Amino acid sequence: MNTIAEPFLLDPDITYLNHGAFGACPRPVLDAQARLRAEMERGPVRFLNGVLEKRLDAARAVLAAFAGARREDLVFVTNATAGVNAVVRSLQFSPGDEILTTNHAYNACKNAIDWVAARTGARVVVATVPFPLAHEDEIIDPVLGGVTARTRLALIDHVTSPTALIFPVRRLVAALEAAGVDVVIDGAHAPGMVPLDLAALDAAYYTGNCHKWLCAPKGAGLLVTRADRQAELVPPVISHGMNAPRTDRSRYHLLFDWAGTSDPSPWLCVPDAIAVLEGFLPGGIAELRARNHELAVAGRRLLLERLGIAPPCPESLLGSIATIPLGAGDSVALHHALYDRHRIEVPCFPWPTFGRRCIRISAQIYNSIEDYARLADALAVELS
Ligand SMILES: Cc1ncc(COP(=O)(O)O)c(C=O)c1O
Repeated sequence: MNTIAEPFLLDPDITYLNHGAFGACPRPVLDAQARLRAEMERGPVRFLNGVLEKRLDAARAVLAAFAGARREDLVFVTNATAGVNAVVRSLQFSPGDEILTTNHAYNACKNAIDWVAARTGARVVVATVPFPLAHEDEIIDPVLGGVTARTRLALIDHVTSPTALIFPVRRLVAALEAAGVDVVIDGAHAPGMVPLDLAALDAAYYTGNCHKWLCAPKGAGLLVTRADRQAELVPPVISHGMNAPRTDRSRYHLLFDWAGTSDPSPWLCVPDAIAVLEGFLPGGIAELRARNHELAVAGRRLLLERLGIAPPCPESLLGSIATIPLGAGDSVALHHALYDRHRIEVPCFPWPTFGRRCIRISAQIYNSIEDYARLADALAVELS
């Protein structure tokens, strides 16, 4: 960790290289959340039935501006898993319909489409994207090759979880929509890691997390739905919005903005998280993104060189996480050894298509190149 780590509560004895799984939230954002919670507990009715809606609208406006989305199209969800569930469980599928995804999809979201398919007689088609790979066309070609006359929906990751690839979503959405296929983008890692212009992307559905690379409190996600697809969408939890007689807000907002009593502070703190991240470096979040990318790339280079491994993908397909394939072996044991003996938190997992162990590094403001050197030293010991 480096000196900019001060605002984070991370254990200084641990080298934290898994911001990709669970982002660390800076202290000023947690302080803002604590203030909100205190306000809520001082007058729960006034807060939840009174000021909440306006506060939500204000937070929504800030996040929409950040993501290049129309605020009418954006709702908060608890996380990207909930966003994907809302979409796929709202749609009507018929026997023989096809839902297209890739072998890089996140397990939880793949489970959601598998479940919907099993209930409706639809079929999940998994396009095989190779890894290692050398060019983004190796992503485009298999996905488009998986489209048939029965394809109704494609679940496409923006930044893949196991392989840490930035998928070319602009090209994919354009081609899939042109083929008459609605796309739900799983952008769990994207906000804060890659620039977003969701209105220009114009996917039918885009969901993502604010609690990863935007460093918001856990439980903050977004779902952006194109105007022509909002009428058919319901949230994972049906509540008062379903029969609300109000006409001053869209049904889409009424349905998603209230999902029963819960703590709305993660959503309301998204503007605080954006402000804190904007303030870390003179160039704001754009500079932070670039710095994190350069550090992830430098960390990957160092590890590849020290371990004698060929790059599994071009640097241009990386954001601020990077996956490095290792030799065969027990990934759970390696994860434990790195944590217990070397005090390094880094994910280790198998990648089934070529049956090897992988690690995935991450780079956030609190990391420095020494963190990856420490990991290389530890791997030299554990893999010998
Ligand atoms: C691609 C992808 N989708 C979805 C998720 C799920 O995120 P959450 O647990 O916040 O819903 C993750 C989590 O790492 C992910 O990497």
